[in-house]
Amino acid sequence: MRKGTRPSSDIEEVLEKARELVTPSVEERRELKETLELAIDRVRRAVDELGYDADVVPVGSAVRDTWLPGNYELDIFVLFPKEVGDKEVLGELIREIAIRAFGKYVQNYAEHPYVMVKLGKFDIDLVPAYRIRRGERIKSSVDRTPLHNSYVMSKLKSPAEVRLLKAFLKSIDAYGAEERVGGFSGYLCEVLVIHYGGFLEVVRAAVNWNPPVYIDPEDHLGEEYASMLFPKGPLVVVDPVDPRRNVAAALTLTQFNRFRVAARAFLLNPSLEFFERGIRPRRMRIKASAVEEELRSRGTHLVVVELSGLDEPDRLSRELLWSQARKLGRILGEELERYGFDPIWSAGWTDESSTIVVAAEVPHLLLPPLERRQGPPVGVSEEDRFLIKYSLGRSTMGGPFIREDRWYVYRRRKYHEATLLAADTFRGRRLPPVLRGRAKMRILTEEEISSLEQWALNEIWRELRKEEFFVRLLVEGLEKGQ
Ligand code: UTP
Ligand code: MN
Ligand code: MN
Repeated sequence: MRKGTRPSSDIEEVLEKARELVTPSVEERRELKETLELAIDRVRRAVDELGYDADVVPVGSAVRDTWLPGNYELDIFVLFPKEVGDKEVLGELIREIAIRAFGKYVQNYAEHPYVMVKLGKFDIDLVPAYRIRRGERIKSSVDRTPLHNSYVMSKLKSPAEVRLLKAFLKSIDAYGAEERVGGFSGYLCEVLVIHYGGFLEVVRAAVNWNPPVYIDPEDHLGEEYASMLFPKGPLVVVDPVDPRRNVAAALTLTQFNRFRVAARAFLLNPSLEFFERGIRPRRMRIKASAVEEELRSRGTHLVVVELSGLDEPDRLSRELLWSQARKLGRILGEELERYGFDPIWSAGWTDESSTIVVAAEVPHLLLPPLERRQGPPVGVSEEDRFLIKYSLGRSTMGGPFIREDRWYVYRRRKYHEATLLAADTFRGRRLPPVLRGRAKMRILTEEEISSLEQWALNEIWRELRKEEFFVRLLVEGLEKGQ
């Protein structure tokens, strides 16, 4: 038995149950198959009716049998000849096809134009790309997807192992390459399982990953060359179908390390929780009073900005809402920092339809109107400008004066109320153009958070407590081992 690992019988027992948990039911499989066939049929018909020369191919986890129960998402690619035109044209064509086949669509704002449509309870990604062959130069970032498909189909022996890895990563909130997560994409999971041989082998390897880690499943490049080509990122996985591409390019150092630690926790303390949380997310119902109580005992305060009504006049895509939420969270933090409120954290979230909530925890909501500002050293050339500015300035409350080798001034803060600063930060033209004119804004403190929706309270609570179940399980395992 390896040091720091439970007997493999314990692990096998949990994996046995987990395999069942991550396997879609017969009923679900039937539903998925029927919906996929119906959708492909509609898209093919639209392509024919519009008279385009294009192939309609299903890709992604639905055709590779690596989708998780409850994941009602399908991926359909429409492949056009390279000569059809640029990305702009691809976007036009796919919108036309979506309208004809499904009546309406939501535009996605990724680097590549694609649309999302709904069919029953399924979300369908409808992606236009260029038809290319293996080895041929790709023209847009998604052109290699059909090649991924054939690679995984020919190499992957046990899709269940990929489902285990996806569920594990979902449980620790590290599944998905989108900006919000910065984690492991579905294709990365597939390539890792193919390379190491199975879920447990991936987890065992991850425990010993020391960044930067280079993996080159098809031996396209040497490690030295790979490190030159991909100098950034904790994990480099050379794409088996395109050596110029790092499959793990979106993985952040934080998610890389969270996975490493979770892998160690699992081997030390195997629990079904590592899979269950990904399949059946736990419903939290954090009460506003619990948040208030928590803040009272911390002696801190909340500044919350709620932007609602964002779905009018039309819906914005999930990706766009998340990237805006994160950006606004960052901006709020920077502004609070700049005006001396010393935020402990700031963050932004969305309900993925109409609302973005941005919040920060601060030691004080009110600062004294006065602040002490440091000026230039005595005797340097900036001295004169400083003296003129502050001697005559209306915001000056004392000085300028000399202490030791420097100038100082007492002056009035531009903002001494955090809520006013927050309101000004997102008012009118300071809001990003995509949100401008849509949003209704509310500024709250911890005293008013009972009017927030449940999901927002849950997110705030998570940010306050920073509890990770895998850290708890790791500590449990460490204590047992002592
Ligand atoms: P999806 O994001 O839908 O992933 O992309 P998936 O493999 O189907 O996994 P789940 O189960 O839905 O989460 C569909 C395909 O598009 C390509 C991959 O080949 C992927 O399988 N893709 C997607 C990329 O190459 N890079 C990306 O960042 C996203
Ligand atoms: Mn998919
Ligand atoms: Mn997709």
